[in-house]
Amino acid sequence: MRILVFGATGNVGRALVDRLAGEPVRLRAMARTPGTAGLPAGVEVVRGDLTDLDSVAAALSGVDRVFLLWPLGGGELTGSVVTLIAAHARRIVYLSAIGVSEDGTPAPDPILQFHTDIEQAVRASGVEWTFVRSGGMASNTLGWAGQIRESATVSWVHGEGGRALVHEADLAEVAALALLTDRLVGTSPEITGPTVLTQREQAAAIGTALGHPVTWHELPAADVRTHLVDTGWPPDAADGALRAWAGLVDNPEVPTPDHEAVTGRRARTFAQWATDHADAFR
Ligand SMILES: NC(=O)c1ccc[n+]([C@@H]2O[C@H](COP(=O)([O-])OP(=O)(O)OC[C@H]3O[C@@H](n4cnc5c(N)ncnc54)[C@H](OP(=O)(O)O)[C@@H]3O)[C@@H](O)[C@H]2O)c1
Repeated sequence: MRILVFGATGNVGRALVDRLAGEPVRLRAMARTPGTAGLPAGVEVVRGDLTDLDSVAAALSGVDRVFLLWPLGGGELTGSVVTLIAAHARRIVYLSAIGVSEDGTPAPDPILQFHTDIEQAVRASGVEWTFVRSGGMASNTLGWAGQIRESATVSWVHGEGGRALVHEADLAEVAALALLTDRLVGTSPEITGPTVLTQREQAAAIGTALGHPVTWHELPAADVRTHLVDTGWPPDAADGALRAWAGLVDNPEVPTPDHEAVTGRRARTFAQWATDHADAFR
């Protein structure tokens, strides 16, 4: 069996490649710059770009199962890429998000809308599918790394917002089972971390992993919106994200039992994630 992994140099894709590397499968990764991909020996790395359908078709040659993530926002291309994959492979395991719309009603923000659109395209394509729906990823806090390195402080918005952040290795474990076995075909496991921490507590947990305090400095939402738009976020995506983060203050994310149900093992804690990634904050 040959498996193609998209996004193999990112947080989840790299963890998935590491997880699959010891399995008796042929593993191929598509990367925009194979020379710097840094993937394990034995992984066939091919050059390609999701915006270049010819390169995607070439990467799909001889492939049976695909791990797909969509790093680009929405757009016209999503349907074409799904159709192309379905013409070559028999199974798509798609990295989706908790909160997608199940019934065709509009999703609450543009990010959840494109995940909804891709899930629907995958269902309609006729392939076997699993949607690994992620809650907030622990890797989001890597966005604080510069501030923590410089000032041992996190200046951001909604410090009391609570999330059950998920370790990318746990998403990778579920995706690997969906690729290697038939157990998860036609299912949409919702994967979170095991407990809720406020953002202020997440910063403190990173401090614990580093061995020194990391403090929280609350910023006004308007300042964060300006920062997001200045750094390239489309205004509607920034507004959607700010609404979602504000909502987490009164309605924190709820941990799901799905990781343990699928893998038989409790999901990794944020403290574990912070320890695993402490060097990124030093
Ligand atoms: N963050 C969250 O809390 C959260 C929650 C739920 C779902 N999600 C979803 O998870 C996905 C992101 O996963 P991640 O964090 O593992 O990704 P990531 O770390 O941001 O990595 C993105 C990957 O996509 C690749 N990539 C970027 N542009 C590409 C292109 N034009 N063609 C081909 N490959 C391209 C990158 O490879 P190169 O740059 O090396 O080419 C990299 O491997 C998104 O769809 C997001 O909506 C995120």
